[in-house]
Amino acid sequence: MRVLISEEKIQQRVRELGAQIEKDYPDGVQLIGILKGATFFLADLARAMKCQARLDFIGISSYGKGKTSSGEVKLTKDLDATVEGADVLVVEDIVDSGVTLNYLMQVLRQRRPKSLKIAALLDKPDRRIRPVEVSYVGFQIPDEFVIGYGLDYAENYRNLRDICVLEETPA
Ligand code: IMP
Ligand code: MG
Repeated sequence: MRVLISEEKIQQRVRELGAQIEKDYPDGVQLIGILKGATFFLADLARAMKCQARLDFIGISSYGKGKTSSGEVKLTKDLDATVEGADVLVVEDIVDSGVTLNYLMQVLRQRRPKSLKIAALLDKPDRRIRPVEVSYVGFQIPDEFVIGYGLDYAENYRNLRDICVLEETPA
């Protein structure tokens, strides 16, 4: 395991993103975190903003237990609140193929929010197979499998404070 982005760098960047988002949404924003990977990012991002932020969560699965996508997307938990007429910001840990967010944006657009944008901590642009417009990006990273700060490998390592590259598949 090798540290790719340290805790300090993550926290610094999240503060910058929070300040930018706060400026863009002076009347408040409805944050939608994608379970479970985005939970740490969402918690820190929300506290980096001084505007009103409502929190909601949605569950989507597109990955199996390993490092590759199953290519299949399904909603595993829906939102608690309606997004109709709201300024909505989807908060995601990482955009990889784009399949998950491309699908989710279609679903949410049908519910007629006033505005709909995406904040993603990490972006692997080389891997994109479906178009996704990400308005706020923390870091662009190369095509490597990362864990920590919410990101998992087979549900492990989410609680690491740094973002690390998993170089070998653990036994
Ligand atoms: P996409 O649909 O391929 O864009 O995949 C997005 C989802 O795949 C993210 O929400 C993550 O849960 C997962 N994912 C993609 N790349 C990584 C990675 O490097 N580490 C951990 N999870 C990843
Ligand atoms: Mg995820």
